[in-house]
Amino acid sequence: MTENIMEKLVALCKRRGIIFPGSELYGGLSGTWDLGPAGVELARNIKNEWRKAIVDENENVVELDSSILLNPKVWEASGHIESFTDPLVECKVCHSRIRADHKDQIEEHEKTHDQKVEWTDPKEFNLMFKTYIGPVDSDENVTYLRPETAQGIFINFKNVLETSRQKVPFGIAQIGKGFRNEITTGNFLFRVREFEMLELEYFVHPDAASEVHEEWKEKRLKWYKDLGIQNDNIKLIDLPREDLSHYSKGTAEVHYNWPFMGWGELEGIANRGDYDLKVHEKISGRDLKYFDQESNTKYHPYVIEPSVGVGRAMLAFLLDAYYEDEKRVVLRLDPRLAPYKVAVFPLLANKEELTSKAKQVYDTLKKNFKTVYDGRGNIGKRYLAQDEIGTPFCVTIDFDTLEDNTVTIRDRDTAEQERVKIEELTDRLSSKIT
Ligand code: GAP
Repeated sequence: MTENIMEKLVALCKRRGIIFPGSELYGGLSGTWDLGPAGVELARNIKNEWRKAIVDENENVVELDSSILLNPKVWEASGHIESFTDPLVECKVCHSRIRADHKDQIEEHEKTHDQKVEWTDPKEFNLMFKTYIGPVDSDENVTYLRPETAQGIFINFKNVLETSRQKVPFGIAQIGKGFRNEITTGNFLFRVREFEMLELEYFVHPDAASEVHEEWKEKRLKWYKDLGIQNDNIKLIDLPREDLSHYSKGTAEVHYNWPFMGWGELEGIANRGDYDLKVHEKISGRDLKYFDQESNTKYHPYVIEPSVGVGRAMLAFLLDAYYEDEKRVVLRLDPRLAPYKVAVFPLLANKEELTSKAKQVYDTLKKNFKTVYDGRGNIGKRYLAQDEIGTPFCVTIDFDTLEDNTVTIRDRDTAEQERVKIEELTDRLSSKIT
């Protein structure tokens, strides 16, 4: 059953232009997925809601867009060259490599050989993608595709501070791609090699860090619940000390109840302490302390960091919204997340008076809502298609429209219909969508 829902969701996403397998034409590329037209809208809406909650609604949070390629000294300072690794063991029979801590996969692999399998000792494998700056592939020209956007923020800490008139506490947010050469990918968007990240680095006085960490934990949990994730499927947990990243003084995670693994990480909310500013100060030789004018003191702020992948969040929203009965499959996405808010149909596609009126309605609505026009097939099929991409409202233009200028609005979740005057349509839909 649980496998089943993942298979059904992957198929739905492909069928409806939400997500396609990466490089499918050439047999695929593991750990990559492409967003189709509806997926681009869904991802945009997730990012917009995040930006609204993190940047727009907090006057002390600003946004940055740093480069994907950074000077390799960044990764030396941050500890990623040394510590951003997973332990790998190699099968001495076929030389496959598997994460040493994934015991179930090791057991599965052993079953694929007739003979007894021996494994090498675990060896650390760095997850950063290496590349070269310029035309010469030499050691001096090596750099990496960033595995997190956070470091671009830390190296711009002083630039932002000096130009944005912010005072601690303040935050720098960033949305951008991250790359990780994961050893094992899978479970659709859950673990991939290229993904967009939503990261906030929130700089606070060290004495306030614990309290502010607690506040961000609650805010982030609430964000998911407000956008429709069901209470029973989401919770906060604190990581035990032995599971912390090399930079962390304490990390909480928002866990989602995934159908393929049970409770597991959706978002991390770390207290990075002053680790990053201190290491960059040491390696760059530049002073990265904050000067507090009121107390006339200098210190390295602590950093609270909520961080989530857009794709992983998308997977949670899609799974949570998935609903099916004997008649139909519906993505019950919150209207703010739904790729399209409204679909407009003429009752019949071959009656010019209906299609031209429907186009007029579409032209009006598209100024206010992400609207899609659909004149293909029969009306039942159009409803089913819109249900499957989660369009909350369908507006149909029929013969009565030509008489009395009214249309039907059909609700995705209840399938109930109401009759509304065209001049009241925008207001009526606005009140439903927001
Ligand atoms: N800057 C902090 C950081 O990078 P992380 O826990 O390694 O922390 C943050 O990653 C979030 O990024 C995770 O909670 C998850 O949502 C997402 N993420 C990490 N690795 C991923 C992968 N391989 N595929 C998809 N999403 C991933």
